[in-house]
Amino acid sequence: MATNRTFTMIKPDATAAGNIGAITKMMEEAGFKIIAMKYTQLTPATAGKFYEVHSERPFYADLCKYMSSGPIVAMILEKENAVADFRTLIGATNPANAAEGTIRKIFATSIEANAVHGSDSDENAAIEGAFFFAKTEEVAA
Ligand code: CMP
Repeated sequence: MATNRTFTMIKPDATAAGNIGAITKMMEEAGFKIIAMKYTQLTPATAGKFYEVHSERPFYADLCKYMSSGPIVAMILEKENAVADFRTLIGATNPANAAEGTIRKIFATSIEANAVHGSDSDENAAIEGAFFFAKTEEVAA
């Protein structure tokens, strides 16, 4: 059954471009409530751990370098059907294939620097949220 939480990061390209406000505004206007939020910078090792599932992929080394290249904003978002609805809001991984009006279509610059991350399942949303926030059940009600 779908849960009501997902995890997102605003990635270094979007943070550096000054798009934190515009992106969080789109999230809120789409009905997502921000229930946890952290501005931080990953080390290459921490980025590698977060994206460990991709460690065999050819883009993994570049991804770790890019994701640790500047600050990110990690968030847990709440909304009914959060994971699926958020993936619709952000659009395809490659901004060239993202639908008009989606966050990646508007803000992403490449398949790697694609502005935001969104969890791909309820299970991963819980794992990824716990990676950044110790007690997600205790964040704002
Ligand atoms: P994200 O949804 O955070 O999940 C994995 C990330 O790897 C992806 O967004 C991109 O930032 C990055 N990436 C770089 N190249 C590729 C690729 N060819 N396919 C998928 N993801 C890629």
